[in-house]
Amino acid sequence: MAALAEGEMVACQVDGVDVLICQVRGSYYAVSNRCSHAGQTLSGGKLNDWAISCPLHGAQFDVRTGKCLAAPATQPIKSFPVTLQGGKVFVAIGDEY
Ligand code: FES
Repeated sequence: MAALAEGEMVACQVDGVDVLICQVRGSYYAVSNRCSHAGQTLSGGKLNDWAISCPLHGAQFDVRTGKCLAAPATQPIKSFPVTLQGGKVFVAIGDEY
């Protein structure tokens, strides 16, 4: 994957899981690409600093933690650990998926 610019994001699949990778202020973050409200993909939404907005009904989530920031969603989305090695982004999905 090419380097992401500030505020840019890209959707991908990691081990069969829909993941959204974002770059904010020089750091990379990875969260589920599915809104916890009604399952909309978040990659069509807007990223404003660390807040991703769902394009369907406007819920917001913090890409650093997956925490829900704004209704109508009430549950967080999953966030995944990210590491950078040799200019590549690695996302650890874990065993729970
Ligand atoms: S599906 Fe995301 S806010 Fe409703």
